[in-house]
This record gives sequence, C-alpha cells and structure tokens, in this order.
Amino acid sequence: MSLAIEFRDVVKAFGPVQVLHGVSFALQPGRVTGLLGENGAGKSTLMKILSGYEQATAGQVLVNGRAARFKGSREAEGEGIVLIHQEFNLAEDLTIAQNIFLGHEKKRGWLLDDAAMNREAADVLEQVGLRVRPETPVRQLIVAEKQLVEIAKALARKARLLIMDEPTATLTPGETERLFALIAQLKAAGVTLLYISHKLDEVERITDEVVVMRDGRYVTRSETREVTRHQMANLMVGRETSDLYPPKAPVPSSVAPRLRVQGLTVPGWAEGVSFEVRPGEILGFAGLVGAGRTELFEGLLGLRPRTVERLELDGRAMRWRNPRDAAHAGLTYLSEDRKGKGLHVHFGLRENLTLMALSRYATPWLKPEAERQALEEAVKRFGIRTGTLDNPASALSGGNQQKLALAKVLHPDPKVVVLDEPTRGVDVGAKRDIYFLIEALAREGRAVIVISSELMELIGLCHRVAVMRGGRLQATLEADQLTEGELIAHATGTH
Ligand SMILES: Nc1ncnc2c1ncn2[C@@H]1O[C@H](COP(=O)(O)OP(=O)(O)OP(=O)(O)O)[C@@H](O)[C@H]1O
Ligand SMILES: [Mg+2]
Repeated sequence: MSLAIEFRDVVKAFGPVQVLHGVSFALQPGRVTGLLGENGAGKSTLMKILSGYEQATAGQVLVNGRAARFKGSREAEGEGIVLIHQEFNLAEDLTIAQNIFLGHEKKRGWLLDDAAMNREAADVLEQVGLRVRPETPVRQLIVAEKQLVEIAKALARKARLLIMDEPTATLTPGETERLFALIAQLKAAGVTLLYISHKLDEVERITDEVVVMRDGRYVTRSETREVTRHQMANLMVGRETSDLYPPKAPVPSSVAPRLRVQGLTVPGWAEGVSFEVRPGEILGFAGLVGAGRTELFEGLLGLRPRTVERLELDGRAMRWRNPRDAAHAGLTYLSEDRKGKGLHVHFGLRENLTLMALSRYATPWLKPEAERQALEEAVKRFGIRTGTLDNPASALSGGNQQKLALAKVLHPDPKVVVLDEPTRGVDVGAKRDIYFLIEALAREGRAVIVISSELMELIGLCHRVAVMRGGRLQATLEADQLTEGELIAHATGTH
C-alpha cells in the first residue's frame, strides 16, 4: 500500500529562471520524511511536481519504480499522491463538503449526491477535529479552520503518499497535537508522509528522517535522531547560525503611551479590551485560535463593526473608521491572511509595495522610477529573494511573500505597527532577520504590536505579552522570566 518515490535529476525552470537544478533522492515508503530548506530553496516547487500541479522541465519522478508524468493533480491523486498546499487552495464560494469532493464528486445516476458527500465530509471533519457543518461556505471560515479543511480533503482522497507543506503554520498547539496524532495513525496505516516545516521542534518530533535542500539542490539526508535542531538549521542555511532574538532595549515606564485603546468591543469577538503601547515597546498578543486576537485588531482598524470608548495616538483622540484612515493617522496593519488580505498575489511586487502609499506615488500620476527605487530598497533591506523585480507576487516563495507583505506595511513609515503572525512560514534565517527588523522599528520609536501563535517568539521578542481568552484580555505579563507554560495556563484558563 505504501508508495516508493524517487526523484532523478529533476530540473524546473520558470521562463529563464531555473529554480531546481537536478534534484535526486529517494523517499522511504511508510516513513515520515521532513523536507528542510530556506525560503526559496525549492521545496514547494518539487512537491508540486510530485503531485502533478507543475511539470518538470527535465528529469524524472519514479513511483514504485516506474516513471510518472502527471499532467495534473487529479492524475497524481489517482495514484494516491495528495498535496496539502502551503497557500490554501480552496474555492471560497463552495461549501466545505463541495471543496472536499471537488473534482471527485459523488453521483447518484446523473445527479450529485449531496447527502452522501455531506455525510462523508462530516466523517473526515470529525477526524481532523473541526466542529463545523459540512454545508458551511468556506468563505465563512477563519484561517486555521481552512487549514483543517485542506487536511480533511486529503483524508477523503485516501492518500498513500501525503505531502504537507507547512500544515501547522496556522494551527494552535492543541490543533497541532491532533494533527500529529493523525500523522501517527496514517503512518501506522502504511501511508508515506512528507512534511515541510520551518518549525524545527516539530520536525524533530514527528519525522523519521530529514532531507535538506538548498538553492534548488539536494544537500543531504540524515536520520532525525542523529541530528540536533541546531545542526538542521546550519545545514539549511549552509553556515553556522547565531542567536535568534535581538537584545531588548529597555522602555522607560515614564514615557507616555503612543497608542491607547480603551474599551474596544468587537461584537461576537471581543469585549471591553483596553491596552496601551509605548514608543519603543513591543507588545505581544497571545491566545488560542478563536480567542479574538485577530478580530480585535480587525475591529481596531475598522475592518469589522466595533465600538470603542476612547482611542488615542500620542495623547490625541482619534476616530478612524477604516485601514486607510488609520494609516493616515499613523497606524498600519499586516494581516495574518496574506493571500486573502495581505498581498495582491497577481499584481507585481512594485504595485504591492506601493499600494499602501498610493497617495505618495500616484499624485499627480504614477512615478515608476520612484516605485522601482522603493522596491529595490525593500528587496535589499528585507532580503527578499526574487529572480527579477518584474515578477508577480505569486511567483515568490511563501516566506518571501511574507517579507514583501512586511515591507508593504512598513512602507508608509507608521508610528504604530500591528503585525499579525509576522513570521508565519518563514525559515530560521529569515525569521531572525524579521525579529531584528521588528526590534529596529521599535528602537526607532515606533510602538509595535505582534500577534503570534508561537509562544517562544512572543517571549523572545516582546517586552510584554497580553493574553486573550474568550474575547477578553486575561492578563498582561512582563516577558522577562515568562515561560511557555504560564502563557498556556492564562490562554486556557487553567491558571
Ligand atoms: N510560478 C513561478 N514563477 C516564477 N518563479 C517561481 C514560481 N514559483 C516559484 N518560483 C521561484 O522558485 C523558487 C523556489 O520557490 P519555492 O516556493 O519552491 O520555495 P520553498 O522552498 O517552498 O520556500 P518557502 O519556505 O518560502 O515556502 C523561488 O525563488 C520562487 O521565487
Ligand atoms: Mg514553500
């Protein structure tokens, strides 16, 4: 039932840009293999070739010893090879059940058998622990729920080789545990698994072996128990790595707050939340998915209906109603959902970068020169890896899209920056770059708010961490001496 896979000299070029340079290695059937590599190393591209979403320019993929040339993902799925995408691949307007059976619809005679599809969908949703009706339109789901639907969809397709590209990037610790249990079950049932993640603690825990790629090439493989996380990181970047978090500059408590929010309520999500951030300070927001963190800030920005008792920026009362007004006032926001709300993936890099600051470039007409210069600077400062500056944003690897999104919100030079999951899907090297960038933003006098599901990141990066549960602010804790356990206790109410 297991599948044996071998890559032989796989080459992939997008136009003139070659991104895979002859990759060769084999996957052991029935094992969990971790695929490691920096952003842009070619991991997702290789997996898309294996699962029929892309075709190799040269070279071969052998499935149980025979050369396979899949013309599309349905052919690969016919062989039991299923990819769970890094960027979601769901049809927003269809229901969960319709998405799960898309291209594999169940029929009774000529008619779609909705009842049967809903029943089976309910079954796989149960397995992944998503308690939502199968008839719910995907549009209504939050990001973590969409991820679970992707996993449910793969289960319904009866995968024999399951590829997960950053599956836990949007999951909470509880959901992650459930996924790991599911992976163990699948492995016991003989399914071969390929696991891509930048979270090396997860890789260490659930994989049997790791394969490392760098710059579109296979570098090495190793039994997981024979390498440390630190060695994995070094293999990925090809040099010795150093401290992940920058030192924290102290923020004097006498300084007046830059942003003060009093009594912010987002109906259905958050109730009477008050907090303040001083210039130079990094304030973290922790909480389980559904705790209302993202919704709180979407409300603050005016993306959702909300009421607020008082909003102050540098001591002055404010009343912005939408992100544009907020940006004018000096507050910018990076959305967690970079495909849905963060980037316009089909637009060019330049357009993406300057869209926020349109007034600067569009008056009286667009100045391509200034735009190009701004993009060049951003590519340099944020270390964005792109073949050419004329690419659409969709051609960037996941982590590089994240850096572009970050460059985009910082472009108008804000006083307050709200970053929702700023390092999701970003490799260790780039993560460190982003942490140092965030620290620099604070040191330059901005107030920074970071929402994150990675507790270590909040503790390592922030001065204080606010914990939300059930739409309310439970506690605001000094990050010094704070432990992951304490944060979890506050977030789950077991304190
Ligand atoms: N459709 C495309 N057109 C042009 N270039 C592309 C396209 N898709 C990917 N690339 C390029 O191929 C390279 C490898 O990208 P890939 O997405 O495979 O990286 P990755 O290892 O998955 O990185 P990440 O960890 O950031 O997800 C990148 O430089 C990317 O810009
Ligand atoms: Mg990728």
